[in-house]
Amino acid sequence: FTVDWDITAAEKQGYPHFMLKEIHEQPQAIADTLLARTDPDGRIVLDELRFDGADLRSADKVYVVACGTSYHAGLVAKHAIEHWAGIGVEVEIASEFRYRDPILTPHTIVVAISQSGETTDTIAAAAHARDQRARVVAISNVVGSTLTREADAVLYTRAGPEIAVASTKAFTTQIAALGVLALFLAQERRKLFPEECRDQLARLEQLPELMEQVLEADGHLAELAERIARADYVMFIGRHNGVPIALEGALKLKEISYLHAEGFPAGEMKHGPIALIDSGGPVIAIATRGHVHSKVVSNIQEVKARGAEVTAIATEGDTAVKEHADHVVYVPEVHELLYPILTVLPLQAIAYHAAVLLGRDVDQPRNLAKTVTVE
Ligand code: G6P
Repeated sequence: FTVDWDITAAEKQGYPHFMLKEIHEQPQAIADTLLARTDPDGRIVLDELRFDGADLRSADKVYVVACGTSYHAGLVAKHAIEHWAGIGVEVEIASEFRYRDPILTPHTIVVAISQSGETTDTIAAAAHARDQRARVVAISNVVGSTLTREADAVLYTRAGPEIAVASTKAFTTQIAALGVLALFLAQERRKLFPEECRDQLARLEQLPELMEQVLEADGHLAELAERIARADYVMFIGRHNGVPIALEGALKLKEISYLHAEGFPAGEMKHGPIALIDSGGPVIAIATRGHVHSKVVSNIQEVKARGAEVTAIATEGDTAVKEHADHVVYVPEVHELLYPILTVLPLQAIAYHAAVLLGRDVDQPRNLAKTVTVE
């Protein structure tokens, strides 16, 4: 009696691709990433901190450096860090950072985000920051990776191994970990009371259950992806922390389906991108509730008026958005700063289904590598 089995198929645990498996692992990965983030006194702690946290009180600037999808996580985190910790944040592509003259002092915090901890440009940007005596905080998924060894503090994501080249669970766990970092900075800088930090942490902890709800609604997305897969060009728009999700939705789609896709801040449409809209062209708009909701709805009306076919990612119960969009994908209501972890899920699924429909190599797209260890 012999059993034929293939180790790769076994590792996929019944899923046809690693990417789909990893999409569905996100709720657990977020729960793991948020586990035991406080000490017995209820104070938020990092995994490693090699300097006095009190020094953070005199910090006057945060730079976030990263590449690819990790850069988009940094763009999301900017909103949380500025809002909760009250410190200005600039997010920069790691391969650009060290080739200009960023003002770096011992009062600068540089947050370097890298799933692998081995991306050459991110490591070099962090090293450049340390040379100028800035404090480097690494966010990584790999314990003991080069980036984490060279940082002054580390916060690990606990996504487990990510095999698909296109990043999914690494991205959402980075956003969760960066949320913890934002609350840690708020705590050390005394911008939030301890109970406020705990309340916000509790909100983060509710996300895995809400993510499950979003992931269960997948059938509808496969239909939408059919429409997307036939398009020549797909545009993603958003505002505020919907901008990085528009960028990430476009990156996911182009990486694995090879369709031409771009993300834009919706308010910039009339300065150029709207010229690309023609009849029936798909536009995916991040239109969840929040202080920019009415602005996004106006932007949806603008592209609709030029013939776009709009899919809105909106908050459950928002029936008004249906009047303007051709399709609506709902996500549960959460605190405004937490939407990105939910709104990216349907975009990952749309990219996945479109790539499958087009017969692409989903887990190993052409010309791309999981970790870029050359400049
Ligand atoms: C490559 C991968 C991306 C990833 C980027 C940064 O381009 O294909 O998925 O976002 O590198 O990788 P890192 O390991 O530094 O997060």
